[in-house]
Amino acid sequence: MTPSDVKATLSFSDGSPSMDLPIFKGSVGPDVIDIRKLYGQTGKFTYDPGFLSTASCNSKITYIDGDKGELLYRGYPIEQLATKCDYLETCYLLLKGELPNADQRVEFTKRVTNHTMVNEQMQFFLRGFRRDAHPMAIMTGLVGGMSAFYHDSTDINNPEHREICAIRLIAKMPTLVAMAYKYSVGQPYIYPKNDLSYAGNFMRMMFATPCEDYVPNDVLVRAMDRIFILHADHEQNASTSTVRLCGSSGTNPFAAIAAGVACLWGPAHGGANEAALNMLEDVQRMGGVEKIGEFIKQVKDKNSNVKLMGFGHRVYKNYDPRAKLMRETCHEVLSAMGMNNDPILKLAMALEKIALEDDYFVSRKLYPNVDFYSGIVQRAIGIPVSLFTAIFALARTVGWIAQLNEMISDPEYKIGRPRQLFNGSPTRDVKPVGER
Ligand code: ACO
Repeated sequence: MTPSDVKATLSFSDGSPSMDLPIFKGSVGPDVIDIRKLYGQTGKFTYDPGFLSTASCNSKITYIDGDKGELLYRGYPIEQLATKCDYLETCYLLLKGELPNADQRVEFTKRVTNHTMVNEQMQFFLRGFRRDAHPMAIMTGLVGGMSAFYHDSTDINNPEHREICAIRLIAKMPTLVAMAYKYSVGQPYIYPKNDLSYAGNFMRMMFATPCEDYVPNDVLVRAMDRIFILHADHEQNASTSTVRLCGSSGTNPFAAIAAGVACLWGPAHGGANEAALNMLEDVQRMGGVEKIGEFIKQVKDKNSNVKLMGFGHRVYKNYDPRAKLMRETCHEVLSAMGMNNDPILKLAMALEKIALEDDYFVSRKLYPNVDFYSGIVQRAIGIPVSLFTAIFALARTVGWIAQLNEMISDPEYKIGRPRQLFNGSPTRDVKPVGER
């Protein structure tokens, strides 16, 4: 970390001695005040629930400028990666720090492709779930369960184990998501086919049946691949921080990634794509474009608990760059499917326009995030709404692994252990039960 010449001084109004705090400079973005010695020297903690002003680590992987609406993976703008690279090149970049050259690209693709099958026993494990289980419930179980299948890649402190675990997770997530889907619809599982691309293979495992093959359409495969690229990493979001915190105890990587899957499920995070599409369908049922005014009124009413799902972001206070790319893909896909007049797309565009002009959203800097359009794309591809977040998890797995590996390789890493401001009862004595 690069120290700054500037120091912060913390002083107290009660005359306690002040303290100089070092500042570190990022290569881009805000500097950080190093408070690691604060408790030792002052006996005080900082208080920042929700991490509004706290950097929990230093990282070289992903950079977001929320005001500009900029997203970089290892320095490369997301717009360039989404148009010039495929998902596996993006995975290589996130894991290794550089884009692969032609030979490395072939080698990496081959390695991932060779690991796409899952242990045959996995299907019996899956059979333990109810048919109507939510795919994210299944994925949390299956990913955690991988640690019981792949014993030779569970030592987080062994770089070879971490490497093979990364390949296995990236390769097997599409197979597991497709299996969860097939199980829910009562169809036989479709084994991976190694001559297809990563996204094409996933779509075939989803939509082929033993009696009818599925030949993926190029526009749809490209759209799926773009969804994967756009969701591959997003610096220290809730699920990534969960993976880091979980992994900081030294647990095996499959368990840490399962924790990330569980966190991603929430509607304020990865579950928002499902929630956004459900919301659009609800408004459509209410009367569609005609009823937008009424719906926006509910959203603005603090007591209604209704949010405009797919809008707002902790970091982006501008248009989410992924949402722009997803909007473009949305038009391409609907046009390829002959669905230009799709009422849900029309509704989304009308809702977006009204929200972007409304003072409630403008003053709070609430813009569409990636989830606003990704649900429409996935629905057009034929993916059921309940599977959206599982696809997000599939795509984000590489980011979680890259971040986990970065943490483990950092010589300064420690188990994550936040502190608290205690507001409960001071010491008291237990009374006999008759006196309580
Ligand atoms: N609809 C209506 N109002 C909103 C929305 C929204 N989608 N998002 C934020 N606001 C309002 C809040 O009510 C708050 O208003 P106030 O200042 O009058 O109290 C203000 O905007 C600031 O919002 P916070 O909740 O403080 O922002 P925070 O950074 O904590 O939350 C979050 C960000 C969780 C993403 C929020 O915007 C939200 O719930 N959005 C909808 C869910 C969603 O789309 N999540 C996807 C995130 S992207 C991803 O995970 C890939």
